[in-house]
Amino acid sequence: MKRTKLNLIFMIGLAGCDSQKSAPSEKAIPAAISQSSTAERWYGMDQVKRGGELYQETCASCHKPDASGTPNWQELDPQGNYPPPPLNGTAHTWHHPLSVLRRTVNIGGIPLGGTMPGFADKLNKQQIDDILAWVQSHWTDEIYTIWHERNLQAGKSLQLLNKG
Ligand code: HEC
Repeated sequence: MKRTKLNLIFMIGLAGCDSQKSAPSEKAIPAAISQSSTAERWYGMDQVKRGGELYQETCASCHKPDASGTPNWQELDPQGNYPPPPLNGTAHTWHHPLSVLRRTVNIGGIPLGGTMPGFADKLNKQQIDDILAWVQSHWTDEIYTIWHERNLQAGKSLQLLNKG
């Protein structure tokens, strides 16, 4: 049910988007949803500013300075690896709760068969959060609001797991 609704959102998003020649196929650009209220951002603008500088130094070489990543991020490259995806809200990143985003930056993708290096020895927690704040500042309110809801749900599931 949830999936169907999300797919619909994706389709609406695509139809409403004219400047995305390099847009990844279907499912990639969520947009309008019937959400009446917009979730408040968890970060402040000072974090976004700090995070932007760190991002340019640490992440931009792969994910592009504007976080637009690789247009065909869903296709394996000739070596059989996935290219760096966009982080700007047009790809998959908003599917992940904050805990998972932090972990991705900490340990990278290599343990999961990917190629992204981990940054645990280069960035501290605050720096990682600042970078994620900058990344999320590229997300529309709609995307952010869906993410926020999922993030809360993920937190609740975790609590239940810990209780059980
Ligand atoms: C050497 C290239 C490289 C660098 C540098 C890099 N990444 Fe990545 N990143 C990737 C690749 C490739 C993937 C896809 C998964 C994989 O192969 O590990 C990825 C995946 C991700 C994902 C998961 C996206 C999703 O939609 O699931 C996030 C989040 C991310 N990177 C954030 C960052 C941040 C933040 C930085 C800087 C601190 C960074 N990356 C630096 C290559 C890189």
